[in-house]
Amino acid sequence: MGLLEAQAALAGKTAIVVGGCGEIQGRAITLALARAGVHVAACDKHADAVEAIGPEVAALGVRLLAQHADAAEPDQLDAFYDRVAAEFGAADILVNVVGEVERNLFTATTRARNARDIRLNYGYVIDSCRRAIPLLQASGNGGSIINFTTIEAHRGAATYAVYAGAKAAVTNFSRALAVELGGAKIRVNCIAPDTSPARMSNAGLYPQDFERMTALGPDVLDEALKIYVPLKEAPPVEAIVDGVLFLASDLSRFVTGQTLHIDGGTSAALGFLDWPVDSFMPAPLAGAMARLKG
Ligand SMILES: NC(=O)c1ccc[n+]([C@@H]2O[C@H](COP(=O)([O-])OP(=O)(O)OC[C@H]3O[C@@H](n4cnc5c(N)ncnc54)[C@H](O)[C@@H]3O)[C@@H](O)[C@H]2O)c1
Repeated sequence: MGLLEAQAALAGKTAIVVGGCGEIQGRAITLALARAGVHVAACDKHADAVEAIGPEVAALGVRLLAQHADAAEPDQLDAFYDRVAAEFGAADILVNVVGEVERNLFTATTRARNARDIRLNYGYVIDSCRRAIPLLQASGNGGSIINFTTIEAHRGAATYAVYAGAKAAVTNFSRALAVELGGAKIRVNCIAPDTSPARMSNAGLYPQDFERMTALGPDVLDEALKIYVPLKEAPPVEAIVDGVLFLASDLSRFVTGQTLHIDGGTSAALGFLDWPVDSFMPAPLAGAMARLKG
């Protein structure tokens, strides 16, 4: 084991990952934790993904409890936690990955859809923390809770108002919990992505916009991201996973109540774009306006 791995002290710990088997972020987080020697209890709403991840984690030589559960359903989340408590008895790390967005003008939303958005972006996080904290306390070594928020919790995200509000609630819930649990050495932090690959970020666009973007091709998307992202590309899934490993590990042992923005700098830019002709400005100047006219 290298010095960095030794300082991270992840090997032998146990993690709970809510939304930890499906494609992209959830699956990548579970596999990265397993590669670091962490035993994992993961639930996911995609039954095929729950089945498929078993042999992959087993090959890494750590324990896995994988259960089919929809985080939107309190009974299913409770059943998952009942099994984690019975089979693991204690845990060191909790990662709440699940989050869902559907783009819509607020005036076009329904009460049912808004209730679902609040449940899937905030409500289940509260329930998951409530069930996980006794398990973290049972480890006797403190712990680390990592909640997924979004850049939209930090700006006025028109057409994502309910999602933005629910994620902002997670941000401040996490901050308050960090203070409350400090004496137990349980740290609570958030990760706020922006444009990372995910099924959900595609679902978060209007279908016609997604189709038009796809038709324009990956080169045009790359050029557009150079305007928007200060680091000139969308953070890959691995960048998000590295953030999870950092916050889960002893490398961040004095970090609590914080949000890690893994977004290539978009939250720092806060609207300053790198226009092709005009360079950095929040609003387009003559060069970009001439292009629009042309
Ligand atoms: N990808 C981005 O650009 C981006 C941007 C901002 C915020 N986020 C946040 O990051 C988190 C991950 O989202 P993503 O779309 O990037 O990841 P994803 O779709 O790659 O991962 C989400 C995981 O949760 C599982 N899942 C989804 N709904 C579930 C449910 N109801 N019950 C149980 N499991 C469920 C999926 O199978 C998957 O494993 C979310 O909280 C999201 O709000 C992502």
